[in-house]
Amino acid sequence: MAKTHFGFQQVDETEKASQVAGVFHSVASKYDLMNDFMSFGLHRIWKAFTIGAANVFAGQRILDIAGGTGDLAFALSKKVGLTGEVWLSDINSSMLTVGRDRLIDQGSLLPCVQLDAENIPFPGSYFDLVTVSFGLRNMTHKEIALKEMCRVTRPGGKTMILEFSKPVQILQPIYDWYSFKVLPWLGKQVAQDAASYQYLAESIRMHPDQEVLKQMMLDVGFDQVEVHRMSGGIVALHMAYKY
Ligand SMILES: C[S@@+](CC[C@H](N)C(=O)[O-])C[C@H]1O[C@@H](n2cnc3c(N)ncnc32)[C@H](O)[C@@H]1O
Repeated sequence: MAKTHFGFQQVDETEKASQVAGVFHSVASKYDLMNDFMSFGLHRIWKAFTIGAANVFAGQRILDIAGGTGDLAFALSKKVGLTGEVWLSDINSSMLTVGRDRLIDQGSLLPCVQLDAENIPFPGSYFDLVTVSFGLRNMTHKEIALKEMCRVTRPGGKTMILEFSKPVQILQPIYDWYSFKVLPWLGKQVAQDAASYQYLAESIRMHPDQEVLKQMMLDVGFDQVEVHRMSGGIVALHMAYKY
């Protein structure tokens, strides 16, 4: 049986998705609160940068994958207007339910679909833009998911991946201390769940760095990839263009 990683643990490939599902079923109800606590609100700036860089205009079709509680989908829906189409999607029903309810509370009736990024149920070249924020590192077969994103992106369109990445060397000690000491403690205090936040820290360490991810995106068929490092490389935005 092929193995993969779930945080620092080696698990059977067939088990990773259900273990990741367990994490997100557990954190869904406190996800937004924890995001603000853990990042000191910085995730809002990282997402705002992503929305700006997307350069979206009215009438475009967008798929937000691993969209969770809907931050990107909601902001993007404002840009495409009534003639556009933004889909909020996620593999996890608990996260998607929180996201859908939040969109409704904000007066937004976007289509919401439960889907696995490794098998996207849309025709090829359907979307002007595909986005994934903080989702890719949780996927079992990242190459397959990236290939699927490339397939559903139309020629002339792009896929944007916002994800934790590798910070510059000088930040590493404090980042490690924060990730492995503070995050699980915060998870325990706020969400009564230290283990999920230990997984968060470990999954970030196992995720490919900026250059490796860029190459992976080129390898699945994108023609050009721009990388924007944010907060000293703690987060990176990969913008992959399909010609
Ligand atoms: C950290 S949350 C990110 C949520 C949101 N995009 C954000 O930035 O706040 C990661 C999400 O990835 C989703 N996910 C994990 N594996 C997935 C897959 N194979 N396909 C689609 N979504 C997946 C999880 O269910 C979870 O909602």
